[in-house]
Amino acid sequence: MAVDSFSAKARKISANIGAHYVDNARTLPWRTPPGGDLPNPYHVWLSEVMLQQTTAGAVKSYFEKFIRRWPTVQDLARADEADLMAAWAGLGYYARARNLHKCAVHITENMNGIFPQKESELLKLPGVGAYTAAAIAAIAFGERAVVVDANIERLVARLFAIDTPLPKGKAEIRSAMDAITPDRGAGDFAQACMDIGATICTSKNPKCDICPVQEQCVAHAIRDEEAYPVKAPKKEKPVRRARFFWIEQRGQLLLSTRPPKGMLGGMRALPDDGWAAGNDGHARPPLAGKWQVHDNIVQHSFTHFSLEVDLAVYQDEKFVTDMVSQFWWPLDNIAEAGLPTLFAKAVKWKTERET
Ligand code: ADE
Repeated sequence: MAVDSFSAKARKISANIGAHYVDNARTLPWRTPPGGDLPNPYHVWLSEVMLQQTTAGAVKSYFEKFIRRWPTVQDLARADEADLMAAWAGLGYYARARNLHKCAVHITENMNGIFPQKESELLKLPGVGAYTAAAIAAIAFGERAVVVDANIERLVARLFAIDTPLPKGKAEIRSAMDAITPDRGAGDFAQACMDIGATICTSKNPKCDICPVQEQCVAHAIRDEEAYPVKAPKKEKPVRRARFFWIEQRGQLLLSTRPPKGMLGGMRALPDDGWAAGNDGHARPPLAGKWQVHDNIVQHSFTHFSLEVDLAVYQDEKFVTDMVSQFWWPLDNIAEAGLPTLFAKAVKWKTERET
């Protein structure tokens, strides 16, 4: 396409998406209305970290809970890390929560509690990568940053029928997003694109009949929307095996705190047999005695592997342990323990069997 007609098309896309947002912006607790005041940077940062790999629907209640409990970045910096990890339980990708705390402490101690405004400075913060830095710069500070998340990737790949498979195609998609990002209101524009990606330009059965950029969309013109974005073939995920240990005494369940580094680091959990992304667990119980093993009670999918879990239930009365990093938790209050979903699934399986 000639440069002139490309930029005319880019301008049209930009204008149509901007106009559509005015009447169709989703109301989300971290946003301000289209064209309104810029939102609170703490809210934008917190929401954008939560929204990495997670849908807005799933994030809403977590965001509201965090803001209620820790209204400012200084409050979050003062939070006990174990409380923060427990409050994050269920959102997944727990390294995000550890980095969130690290970043809050850094901003509080070294930056007077004030977020840097420029994309290049935001990029230096713990846990803030290219996407998050661009999103915060555009949404909270009005910088003309180019924001590309998975929803925007799909929308833009279809608009321009970009057929270089991901991840290689990301550079082309980014430069197309650069071409359609307006000089003013880049934050609203990015969020408008996210909304279209989430609600109209969906992976399956996109609703092209209500799309404000249907006429500009090459994938629609060739009636092949679902072919974009083109992805490199997926590798099969390996399946790992794990065993969790259920040790219950007088209405209390034995929990452990996972080591700070590694999968689900620092989270409360059921004691287990040392499974990891790269190896099965050893299946040996932590204490001698009678155990009843229930095979394959839970399957759980991580990004790079799937896990099949057995549950071994301790059958003896007597209990001897040196309790290193272990503690009792009342079973009738287990929801408050903040167990990651994987362990919460095992608890659910066990408690539902008993009733
Ligand atoms: N996904 C990532 N950031 C978002 C935002 N600001 N609004 C809606 N969905 C998002």
